[in-house]
Amino acid sequence: MTEFPVTAVAVIVVAAGSGSRLGRDQPKAFVQLGDRSILEHALAGVFGLNEPAQVIVVAPETHLAETGTIAGRVAGLATGYLDVVAGGDTRQASVARGLAVVRSGATVVLVHDAARALTPAALIDAVVAAVRSTGHGIVPGLPVVDTIKSVDAAATILGTVDRSQLSAVQTPQGFPRAMLDAAFAWAATLPSADAQDLTDDAALVAASGNTVSVIPGDPLAFKVTTAWDLRRAELLLGDDAGAPASADPRVGTGLDVHAFDDTSDLWLAGLHWPGERGLSGHSDGDAAVHAVCDAMLAAAGLGDIGQVFGTADPRLTDAHGEVFLTETLRLVTEAGYRVGNVTVQIIGNRPKLAPRRIEAQELLTGILHAPVSVSATTTDALGFTGRGEGIAALATALLHPISPTRASDRPSPKLNQ
Ligand code: CTP
Ligand code: MG
Repeated sequence: MTEFPVTAVAVIVVAAGSGSRLGRDQPKAFVQLGDRSILEHALAGVFGLNEPAQVIVVAPETHLAETGTIAGRVAGLATGYLDVVAGGDTRQASVARGLAVVRSGATVVLVHDAARALTPAALIDAVVAAVRSTGHGIVPGLPVVDTIKSVDAAATILGTVDRSQLSAVQTPQGFPRAMLDAAFAWAATLPSADAQDLTDDAALVAASGNTVSVIPGDPLAFKVTTAWDLRRAELLLGDDAGAPASADPRVGTGLDVHAFDDTSDLWLAGLHWPGERGLSGHSDGDAAVHAVCDAMLAAAGLGDIGQVFGTADPRLTDAHGEVFLTETLRLVTEAGYRVGNVTVQIIGNRPKLAPRRIEAQELLTGILHAPVSVSATTTDALGFTGRGEGIAALATALLHPISPTRASDRPSPKLNQ
């Protein structure tokens, strides 16, 4: 009998769908995206996990051999971690088939759509870490920035939905193993019509009475559903003129200043600081977050925060840091870049950063899926910060092209103005 490595994590990659909306003659996971199949891209993210995991690929019955070849290529010498099983008629049935072969020893199980081909490994790591630290089900999600209307059957607008209560969720969705097992066992007892309303694993786990929380998602974890999505993914991979012209990293700086305003609460570096003097501004006045956004936009050649987020933009009234950072991350991703790292220095007498520095760094790192360092200094009682009139923040961001090799392969790079 073969000896399997024992892992604490199992990742079920569901790839058994037909891809009817993409409308190709192969199942979606086997459609080419640049030089590799969608499935191969997705598995490259999964095998980028920091800790070893059992990787279960749930494939169409007709494509088991091809799946074995593709997955084996990505696994390399780590084929012992890999299992390939046939899927079912629905996504939920496919997940159940995968769940049935999770090996003993796994305590955290992730379910991931192969169709989210460009999902960064850092997001998968973040889901594992959050399952462990909370004991909850965890789904990555992005705040919804567009205005959302509810409509009736005749498409007449009924009202505006409160955006702050919405999150556009992605995969991988992660769960303590026992919780996911129990939820699937419970779903098997439901009438099939009720089970069909539970469109993802998070819905099923929540309906079975368990807590599921959202952590910051990543714009690269979008799902390839239509031909448009496939083209977008190709462009992001640097396979065409839409991508950055050079493989070189790009750096940007950002500076922001806000005056103190005693009538508002302080939000700084994404955190709420009860009892501290607030900052004036159209949004929450978070100078540190705004400086980071400016640095990222500058590095990508996308202008500055004032140009991108006009003060007249109703989406940003009282918006907190996550909304700005997520939207900025989406824009730089769309321009073909991923974040290398970011540093931001806060300049002012108060608040004292030291007791919450780690908290601020973890929050911002979680949103950008890249290391963010936060530091602080005073100006020796000189200038407006020294006089206690306000706070300044100075940030530097380093961005890398998403696909450096492909970008550098291109014969005549154009200047990315
Ligand atoms: N999936 C699966 N088994 C099914 C249906 C879906 O494993 N019976 C997987 C898909 O392969 C995909 C993920 O679930 O990776 C998300 O589903 P979706 O994007 O809807 O893919 P398809 O069902 O293949 O596409 P479509 O709905 O357009 O037919
Ligand atoms: Mg489907």
